[in-house]
Amino acid sequence: MNWEEIRAQFPVTEKYVYLDIANKNALPIPVTNVMNDYILKQQTMGGDKEEWKNTIEETRKSIAKLINAEPEEIALTKNTSEGLNIAANSIPFNPGDNVILNDNEHPNNIYCWLNLDKKGVEVRWAPTKNGIVKVEDIEALVDEKTKAVAVSYVTYMPGNRNDIKAIAKLCNEKGILLVVDVVQAMGILNVDVKNLGIDMLATSGHKGLLAPHGIGFFFCRKGIMDRIPPVYVARSGMVAPVAIEHDSLTYSLCLAENATKYEIGNQNYLGITALNAGISFINSIGIKNIESKVLEIGGYLTKELQSLGIEVLSPIEETQRAGIVCLKNNHTKELFEKLAVNNVIVTIRRDSIRVSLSFYNNKSDIDRLLNLVEDFKD
Ligand SMILES: Cc1ncc(COP(=O)(O)O)c(C=O)c1O
Repeated sequence: MNWEEIRAQFPVTEKYVYLDIANKNALPIPVTNVMNDYILKQQTMGGDKEEWKNTIEETRKSIAKLINAEPEEIALTKNTSEGLNIAANSIPFNPGDNVILNDNEHPNNIYCWLNLDKKGVEVRWAPTKNGIVKVEDIEALVDEKTKAVAVSYVTYMPGNRNDIKAIAKLCNEKGILLVVDVVQAMGILNVDVKNLGIDMLATSGHKGLLAPHGIGFFFCRKGIMDRIPPVYVARSGMVAPVAIEHDSLTYSLCLAENATKYEIGNQNYLGITALNAGISFINSIGIKNIESKVLEIGGYLTKELQSLGIEVLSPIEETQRAGIVCLKNNHTKELFEKLAVNNVIVTIRRDSIRVSLSFYNNKSDIDRLLNLVEDFKD
């Protein structure tokens, strides 16, 4: 498929200029097809649980391929927040330990760590400039009680890319666990857990991974997994779960030595079916091709906004950019409304217009946006 054929898989592009994947995606045909089939099958014959379980294992493989991990390192979750809460509550903190955040994280990568106050864990705040947290500023906060650093690969606003490799190197040298919120990078940038040096990551499926809300995943590196015991457990995470089909119930609490130990009971099978289709679609295009396409359109948008004299809050440097471009002017609400009535979908974040790009967008989408933005020069 060429880019135009790929774009045709997204019916939203027929009517809208859809620039809002950082908020939520518009589902493509390969995903809605499998969802429709699933729903019909459950309607007509109750669905097939064996098939759903096979889909779960297939999905683990698709995810592993996408992020260069092992299927055993992947737990299916509800969303990013659930994965971050698993990390925060499973890392064996002692009273007096600390975790380092920064002042530009999404609230859902903050509350779960503040909630450790009840265990006597201190949160330390690294400063940011234009959204970016510098490794030196994290290092300045590290002491012998630092157990974890939690940071976004791509921030929700202004959408900059943090230098995860450098942060991972520091964490590795100091024996600190690195937890990364990758939701704004997944399906948009190449997130290679080995190359980046990530210990744990969390994401949702409803943005770049092209799934609906309510499904996501958590990655925990094999080398540390035995040090990260789950907080909640269920039958699905046991090595030899008791078989309830038979009348001989003997229980032994023996946790699986893989990430299924973080999963709780029946899954969101429909969500997983959709996620698998979304990720398979992405894998068939190739995440590196997607990253190049998004960075190219983002570069065009940034350059054109600058030449119109419109303030761009997101980084200009390609190595610090992702798929988000935030622009600022004094009439954010009016501009947002004008875009909406012209079927250009974006979101407002912290008083700026957040434009978020994916691989179905093209230059003509950007030109339609620019025509409307032009009238709003300060
Ligand atoms: C960087 C970041 N982290 C976390 C979230 C929240 O994720 P969820 O509500 O799906 O858990 C968002 C946006 O919704 C986000 O942009």
